Amino acid sequence: MQKIANFVKNELKDDHTGHDLAHINRVVALTKTLISENPKANSKIAITAAYLHDVIDDKLVTDPNAKTNQVIDKLAELNFSKIEIHKIINIITHMSYSKNLSNHYELDINGQIVQDADRLDAIGAIGIARAFYFGGHFGDVMYDESQQPRINMNKVEYRKHTTVINHFYEKLFKLPDLMNTKTARKLAVQRKLYMENFVNEFKKEWH
Ligand code: ADP
Ligand code: NI
Repeated sequence: MQKIANFVKNELKDDHTGHDLAHINRVVALTKTLISENPKANSKIAITAAYLHDVIDDKLVTDPNAKTNQVIDKLAELNFSKIEIHKIINIITHMSYSKNLSNHYELDINGQIVQDADRLDAIGAIGIARAFYFGGHFGDVMYDESQQPRINMNKVEYRKHTTVINHFYEKLFKLPDLMNTKTARKLAVQRKLYMENFVNEFKKEWH
């Protein structure tokens, strides 16, 4: 696992969009919490997928297929079995919010846990900070009343940004209802309340 962590650290070292090693470490920690409450989970699969989940993300790397092959080679080099590699790759290539906008992919319990852990790190106080950090990186404005949040987007539409505040309505507020595990849902509800208070206060000050 230390070798996986070192590999990921190097892959994400130049990230300034909120998908850096600190994000990965928080997702790994949340994954461990969720594993402890789900006896059917396989911690080797889930923790490895948590470490690797953003290495092949198409919004972060130019050639996701080549990156996926590189991850497969890395896992083989570390003596992961063919079945383990298949399971891990299946999770990290199907868990993202954008991938699941037009289709809904059924993940195994390990994938459900990592997806919940990643989504928990997108909400609450950290989630607010990451959204503004991401928006700033891509040159989005914080807020513009004339731009309404969009509904029913496909992946291509989702990737065309509007405003950071719209992102709360277009994704972040929806996450509690999309959680797979009970524990994550409970945490997500608290984090959503915190974000709702923030957005209300933000709009009050804005006006
Ligand atoms: P996924 O990788 O699951 O498809 P995203 O692409 O939405 O998820 O990226 C994960 C995180 O990046 C979000 O939770 C958020 O913090 C940030 N992010 C993505 N798109 C935006 C956006 N348009 N505005 C602000 N933050 C964003
Ligand atoms: Ni992530």
